[in-house]
Amino acid sequence: MSRLSLTADGSHTLLSQQFGVDYHSAHGAIQESRHVFLKHGLMPLLESGQTVIEILEMGFGTGLNALTVRQLAENWPGVQFNFTTFELFPVTEEDIAGINYPELMGVPLDWLTELHAAEWEVSVAITSNFSLRKIRQDFLKVMPRPYPLHSFDVIFYDAFAPRSQPEFWTQEAMRICLAALQPGGVFVTYCAKGQFKRDLRDAGFKVEALPGPPGKREMTRGRVV
Ligand SMILES: C[S@@+](CC[C@H](N)C(=O)[O-])C[C@H]1O[C@@H](n2cnc3c(N)ncnc32)[C@H](O)[C@@H]1O
Repeated sequence: MSRLSLTADGSHTLLSQQFGVDYHSAHGAIQESRHVFLKHGLMPLLESGQTVIEILEMGFGTGLNALTVRQLAENWPGVQFNFTTFELFPVTEEDIAGINYPELMGVPLDWLTELHAAEWEVSVAITSNFSLRKIRQDFLKVMPRPYPLHSFDVIFYDAFAPRSQPEFWTQEAMRICLAALQPGGVFVTYCAKGQFKRDLRDAGFKVEALPGPPGKREMTRGRVV
C-alpha cells in the first residue's frame, strides 16, 4: 500500500513508518519548501549577489528541497549551488514511486530520480551549476563532522518535528548548526516553537520570527552574527 497522501496544495507527502508522521506539512509540501527554504533561506543570498552558495540540509527525505533548489538553479546560471544533505534512513524507489513533485513543478521525472540515484558521501555534479552530496550518517552524532567547520552559507533544517524527534530541537543540536555556518550564515526551519527559539538564541543565533507558509502563522530564521 502506498504511503503517499495529498497535502493542501495538491503535492504529495510520505508517511514515515519509523516515526509515525508525514514528511511534510499537511498545508502543502511544495508550498512549504519554497516558502521556508527558498524564499527565506536562499533568495536573500542570491539577491545579495553571492555566486557560490553552500547549502546544508538536515533530512534529504523525498528529495523535495533538493529538487526545488535544482529547479531554481536553472534560472541562476551564473551561480554555483552546492547542496550537502544528511539522511540516515533513505527512502526506497518504491516509497516514492508516483510522487507528483516533478509533474506539479513542471520538470522531468528524471530530475528527481537522478537525485535519489546519486552516489552517497561524494559530491556529484548533477548539472553544470548544481552539485549534490548526500551523507548517510547521523546528523547529531557523526564526529568529526564530514565537512569543514564554518563552511556553509545556509542550513535547511528539515528534521521531524519536536514531538517526534525532540533531540533535534535542543541547544546542543543548534550548536552543531552554528559551528557549520560561516559568519553571516543563515539557518531556516518551519518550526516556530517558543522553547526551540529560546534554545536557538541561547546557542548564539540572532533569531527572527517570520510569517509562515499558508496555513502556518510563523517560521524561524537564525543568523550568525
Ligand atoms: C521531515 S523529513 C525531511 C523531508 C525532506 N527534506 C523532504 O524534502 O522530503 C526528516 C528526515 O530526517 C531523516 N532523519 C531522521 N533522523 C536522522 C538523523 N539522526 N540523521 C540524519 N537524518 C535523519 C528522516 O529519515 C527523514 O528523511
